Amino acid sequence: MVSNNNIQVIAVASGKGGAGKTTISANLASALTQKGRAVMLLDADLGMANVDVLMNVHSRCNLSHVLEGKCALEETIIQGPNGLMIVPAASGVQRMAQLSAQEHAGLINAFNDLPHKIDTLIIDTAAGINHSVTNFCQAANEVLIVICDEPTSITDSYGLIKVLNQDYGIHRFHMLANQVDRAQDGQQLYQRVLNATDRFLHVDIEYLGAIPRDVYLRRSNQAQRLVTLKYPNSQSARAFDRIASEIATWSAPDSLSGGIDFFTERRINQITHA
Ligand SMILES: Nc1ncnc2c1ncn2[C@@H]1O[C@H](COP(=O)(O)OP(=O)(O)OP(=O)(O)O)[C@@H](O)[C@H]1O
Ligand SMILES: [Mg+2]
Repeated sequence: MVSNNNIQVIAVASGKGGAGKTTISANLASALTQKGRAVMLLDADLGMANVDVLMNVHSRCNLSHVLEGKCALEETIIQGPNGLMIVPAASGVQRMAQLSAQEHAGLINAFNDLPHKIDTLIIDTAAGINHSVTNFCQAANEVLIVICDEPTSITDSYGLIKVLNQDYGIHRFHMLANQVDRAQDGQQLYQRVLNATDRFLHVDIEYLGAIPRDVYLRRSNQAQRLVTLKYPNSQSARAFDRIASEIATWSAPDSLSGGIDFFTERRINQITHA
């Protein structure tokens, strides 16, 4: 097994559906890969996966086969562009959206035995605040909340932050505004969330910036290609590149174990006893 000390694990979540989690996870993963990072992208929208569709990649095995014992986690990994490693989930498999805490912990623990050299793991989570989302966020070192300019996006992201803070002990978050028409709109959205969190919660939310609403991004998604690769000079691709540069400066956590420090023992225990 290759030693994967100090792996940076980033969960991307939003509460609200359709905010842009999958688009952002995949393009940030790609942008970080282009910066020389060894990146794995995990589709943690377990029952309604779509990273593989977005990137037009295919695998014989996905995470549902791993849960059924039919495949090893290693066999699910797809080699994406520039060496990006993709772990696909199942689409239209209801049971995968209803895993027990033990099944989540077992699945996540399997990452500890992967032989691959990885320095960044990006987790695309599902919409909502069910246990799958909160478990993956708890497992991560950093939680990136995606917001967009809709009232329900503000309330849902507040709701998610509240649950992660009060029930899962997470204090630090990053926030990314998506589909904004002007940069200052993103800043205002962030401020609206802060107005609520500052009053009622003890959390630290850092603003990472905004991804513009971009017709090239939509076009790329429709063509099942990443905008960062298909239109690298588009506004959204440049924003992804900027944000990836910022993420690359984050210090990696200290790791005590020799494997991927995805879920430490402590975190697995918290999940299985939740
Ligand atoms: N910056 C953007 N500019 C234009 N279109 C965008 C942008 N970001 C996302 N979209 C579009 O918004 C839609 C939702 O995006 P995406 O699937 O990434 O969201 P999601 O949060 O993963 O959704 P779900 O909650 O269903 O998993 C897609 O059609 C995507 O093409
Ligand atoms: Mg998604």
